[in-house]
Amino acid sequence: MNYNKKSIEDIEVAGKRVLCRCDFNVPTKEGKITSDKRIKAAMPTIEYLVNKGAKVILCSHMGKPKGEWKPELSLKVVAERISELLGKEVIMANDVAGEDSKAKAAAMQNGDVMLLENTRYIKGETKNDPELSKALADLADIFVNDAFGTAHRAHSSTAGVADYLPAVSGYLVQKEVSIMGKALANPERPFVAILGGAKVSDKLNVINNLLEKVDTLIIGGGMAYTFMAAQGYSVGKSLVDNEKLDYCKEMMAKAQAKGVNLLLPVDTAIAESFPSPIDAEIPVAYCDCTEIPADQMGLDIGPKACEAFAAAAKSAKTVVWNGPMGVFENPTLAKGTIAVAQALADSDAVTIVGGGDSAAACEQLGFADKITHISTGGGASLEFLEGLELPGIACLQDK
Ligand code: 3PG
Repeated sequence: MNYNKKSIEDIEVAGKRVLCRCDFNVPTKEGKITSDKRIKAAMPTIEYLVNKGAKVILCSHMGKPKGEWKPELSLKVVAERISELLGKEVIMANDVAGEDSKAKAAAMQNGDVMLLENTRYIKGETKNDPELSKALADLADIFVNDAFGTAHRAHSSTAGVADYLPAVSGYLVQKEVSIMGKALANPERPFVAILGGAKVSDKLNVINNLLEKVDTLIIGGGMAYTFMAAQGYSVGKSLVDNEKLDYCKEMMAKAQAKGVNLLLPVDTAIAESFPSPIDAEIPVAYCDCTEIPADQMGLDIGPKACEAFAAAAKSAKTVVWNGPMGVFENPTLAKGTIAVAQALADSDAVTIVGGGDSAAACEQLGFADKITHISTGGGASLEFLEGLELPGIACLQDK
């Protein structure tokens, strides 16, 4: 896939109506935004467009309302937050490319900002319905995609609209694509990837694709127990993806054939059962991964594994990390994830954390400013690591 896409700086935006797709799918609790990271990440593009005198029409989805008008998923709270960050009023449309949006778009002055309602209030959005794509396009002269977190979705507001308007990337998409694209296409070596998360089946193509590119592939988290089981070790009650045992064998053989150092945890934190509630204090012991007792389950990597993984990360020139090493929501079982986050923070390498849980871990631990790049994408960054074409980027004009 060609990541060399035109950006907002490659097109004249002054006085134009610019439809800018952002990922404002932010977490909320009791009507309040609990993390405005994604809103802040979109601000450089919004500020640029405002300063250039464009009429800025923002749009995004929030949650999964599936075509229903759910008031708790309204983007009004987002409009308020953008307005605070921008220091100017953000006009809120009461619909998505409907009569209200059209009237308000027609009345906009240069430098004005408007936010449309949740694009997923309209059923056609997730079906990439041409009617909705066209209605969105009719509001504007130019389409800017700055929603990296949603770039893996081929929806009307992320890709379909580009059939009807000149389409370029915003600064966030440009940054995500250039940092992660370079790491995958032309990394400084040694290149180490650290993968975690519960299930092998969620990372099948990521493992396969990264084995083509890295010098060392580290596998931790719940996935590691399937790799141990595939080698014939008994892993007690640990989570095992039985259907993926052959796949794990294949990947281990591939690593060997390619000369990739495949690192699995030597030891593990074990307990009798999964904590319930997830953050409940439970008695935890440690043992080697080859000796997990039949009545125990592995729930985090152990101290020897923490040390080995940290050493690999510290000696690398490029590190990509996606997925927690254990049940990091539980303080006793978060040690492996913390150790990896710490190792990345201490490393002089280019460090890239693919969204979701590992990004949240870095932020909660206060390491965010010590990491080269924390992606705003969860599913999108994973698909990027899989080497897949992201529709929200493929639809943009090539340079
Ligand atoms: C995300 O949170 O990963 C993006 O906003 C995409 O959301 P989705 O998984 O509901 O498409």
